[in-house]
Parts: sequence; C-alpha cells; structure tokens
Amino acid sequence: SSTNFTIYYGSLVNPETLTSYHAILHCLLAVNPHGNIEWVVRDVPDSMVQATLLEQGCPDAEVVELKDGQFLMPGFVDTHTHAPQVPNLGSGQQYELLEWLKNLTFPMEAKFRDTEFARRTYQSVVHRIINQGTTTCCYYGTLHLDATKELANIVYSLGQRAFVGKCNMDRNSEDYYIEPSWQSSINDTKALISHIQSFPPSPSGISLVKPILTPRFAITCTSPLLSSLGELAASDPSLHIQTHISENLAEIEFTKSLFPDQESYAAVYDHFGLLRDNTVLAHAVHLNKDEIELIAERKSGISHCPTSNFNLNSGVAPIGQYLDKGIKVGLGTDVSGGFSPSILSCIRNASIASKVVAMQNRGRNNHDHHLENGNALGHCKFADTQLSIATLLYLATLGGAEVCMLSDQVGSFVPGKSFDAIIVDVRDTAGNPAMWDFKADTHDLTGQDALRGMLQRFLFCGDDRNISDVFVQGRRIGGKA
Ligand code: GUN
Ligand code: ZN
Repeated sequence: SSTNFTIYYGSLVNPETLTSYHAILHCLLAVNPHGNIEWVVRDVPDSMVQATLLEQGCPDAEVVELKDGQFLMPGFVDTHTHAPQVPNLGSGQQYELLEWLKNLTFPMEAKFRDTEFARRTYQSVVHRIINQGTTTCCYYGTLHLDATKELANIVYSLGQRAFVGKCNMDRNSEDYYIEPSWQSSINDTKALISHIQSFPPSPSGISLVKPILTPRFAITCTSPLLSSLGELAASDPSLHIQTHISENLAEIEFTKSLFPDQESYAAVYDHFGLLRDNTVLAHAVHLNKDEIELIAERKSGISHCPTSNFNLNSGVAPIGQYLDKGIKVGLGTDVSGGFSPSILSCIRNASIASKVVAMQNRGRNNHDHHLENGNALGHCKFADTQLSIATLLYLATLGGAEVCMLSDQVGSFVPGKSFDAIIVDVRDTAGNPAMWDFKADTHDLTGQDALRGMLQRFLFCGDDRNISDVFVQGRRIGGKA
C-alpha cells in the first residue's frame, strides 16, 4: 500500500533535454515499494507537506528530508569501463593505445585467470565504482569466463544496474593472454550469457544485470569470431553489444590492414552485423564523414571517453558533431585508459575537450562561416561550441541511459521510471571538496540560482565525498553517509 512509499523532500536536479535541465526546490518525490518513482510534486512549502501527502493518499509514508546544500539528481551512467584495469589506475600516461595494451593492460588483465584474485579485486572495484555515484555501468571483464562470472555475481549482489561482458579476443594479443580459438570464445560467451540470465530478477521483476557482447576491438578478433558474434547478436536482438572504435591513428591503420575489403573501421563492425541500436561504441575520436553517417543510420550509441582520450594521447572527439547528427552520446570513464573511475572527471574533461575543439575551430573558421553553419540557422547547434552544464549533465545521465537503451527506465526523474539516484551534499562541513559556503556563496544567489550554483560546484569540484547516498531501483546501495 502507499504507506510503504518512501518520500524524498527537498531540492532536485533533473535533466530534461540536451540543452535544458530543471533545478527544483521544495520537491516531493515518492518512490513505491518496487523502487519506481510514483509521483513528483513541485513547489511544496514546508507547511504543505503533510497536506500534500494526505492528498496523494500516503499520510503515513516515511519522509526523508534533504537539508540545505543537499540535492537529489539521477545517478551517473558510465557507458564504458574496464573493471580489471582498476588496479592500473594512474599508470600509463606515457603510452599510446597499442603500446599501452601490450605493456600495461594485457599483463594486468592476465592476472584474472586466478579466479580468487578476480573475486577479491572485483569486490573492491565494484564498491568503489558504486560510491562514485555510478548507478548504471557498462563493464568489460577480461577474456576469462570464470573471472567474468565473478564480476557479474558481485555486481548483482551489490545491486548495481549493469551490463557485463567477457572480452572476445582470438588474435593480435600476447601468447599468455589470448583465447585459443574463435569457437571457445563463442562457447564462453554463451556460457556467460546463460549465467547472467539465470540471476533471479528483483522482487519487482526487473533484471538489473544484463550480458553484453564484447568483441574487444576489430584488431583482436578474427573474421570467424566477428561473424559468429554477429550471428549470436542476430539470434537475440535484445542482446547489447560494446566495442572500441577509432580511438587512435595507429589502431585505425592496423584495422584497415586487417580488413582491406572494408571501407572503414565502422564498416568492419557493420559488415558483421554488430552496428545496431543497442551497440555502444567507445571513443569514436577519428571517424570520417561516412562512418558518422553509418553510425547515425544504425542508431548506435557513442561512449565519449575524454579522460582516456587525453591520457593516452588519442585525440579530441568531435562530440558536438555527433550530437548535431542526432547520434546518442553518453560518457565513459574507460578505466584505466582514463585515470578516474568517476563520471565527474569525465564531465570535466568533456567540457575541456569541447573547448579545445571550439578553440581550434575559432582560428580556422571565419565568423561568417561560423554563423552560416552554426547557431544562426539552427542546425549545428553543438559543433564547435563548448558544452553547457545542461549538456554535460544530460550526457552523464539521460544520454548514457539512451546509449544503454534504458532511457524509459532511468536517467531522469519521471513517474514510472526507476529511482536510480544520488544524494549530493555540498554543505559547509570540514574537508568538503565542493564546499558551498552558505554565508559567502549565497549572499547574491538564492533559490534556483543557488541550486544551479551548487550543481556546477559539484560537477567541477566535487568527488565521492559529496555523494552521501546511491540508490538503484529504490534501494540504497552505496554512498559515504
Ligand atoms: N582498445 C582495445 N582494448 C582497449 C582497452 O582496454 N582500452 C582502451 N582505451 N582501448 C582499447
Ligand atoms: Zn576501453
């Protein structure tokens, strides 16, 4: 009954479109026992809370009251990360992609052949990622079936919403870290899918953890492997797919040499039936025009991994162009190509990446050209301009949900969606990295403006110490409080 609702009362930040979000004060948000948002009522003064609850038919529900300096926002969606690379965080900035894989990444991933090591490591990894406010996560495991089962088990038991995939790689790796054949790669993939699909759904019938096909990238997959992954995908249109694309120039050259009959890197994946609406393509730094068209046509999503793209010297992805084409874009930490497991770090680097693109093109294009192709005519809204707070917030939440084909379930606060949320805290307490000093900061900012200020402060200065609660499907699964 509605007595079992949990009601949150306070400030709330809610993405709406790529260019707008709501900052709402005095909001009542009701979560039903299934963990779904039942209703949201705005602008309820303190004195009207009880009357509103009565009106909504739940006078006895528990009310969680947020303080000044706390606000609710949708949880972050990390559309691309590598769980086994977390132990390598912070290393590798001297390399570019292919050397980095060979010298640092494959040696670390190989350690996960030890399932006991995998269990220990993944337990701490998933905890850590949840406490960054990531409520939905697309995980790459290693090529090992047993270790990746452990990863899925841990994600399931900790209650995070996630996609978990076992890397497919049957060539161009080191002898100590490669699958013996494309057949065994496919068999292990099928075994992981069955394992994950056998997890009991939540009491409300929702499967939070889903399998995802994970051909590491075209370089490490033979044609027979890619074509049987394509068949597997075709046999189940609901099966998600994730891979890397066009991250690094040497990678692209190598890929073209391996698939001389295909016109482009994107065409390789398309040829094998791996580009579709539930495909997540990480990086997409150096796509050509035809590839952008192809990806738009296939309705595949792009995971923007700017921290990694800077760290591994890959380049600056022209995300504005993709948004103008209507391509779905989310953010990815790409640990440990990226040196932070937090989507906050991605937001900052996505902002800077967009400014770099804008600065470069300011020199190249004259003003008239810019106006002609730009904002003045309505198309090209995002290309060559810096991303706004609204856009950054969107990419980190609802945009990621779209890339995961989950935007009808998560990414924003709308009745009927799941309550996947974080409580952010920027109160003036000792050691608070995003401290909002109520005496100094708000002398000229009040109401919604102050809330928007706090959101920006959190996005650019905050970290996990500012995340007091993390909820997935209504259930508290982490946070520092
Ligand atoms: N391409 C293939 N594998 C990887 C990986 O582990 N990280 C990144 N950033 N790119 C890749
Ligand atoms: Zn990656």
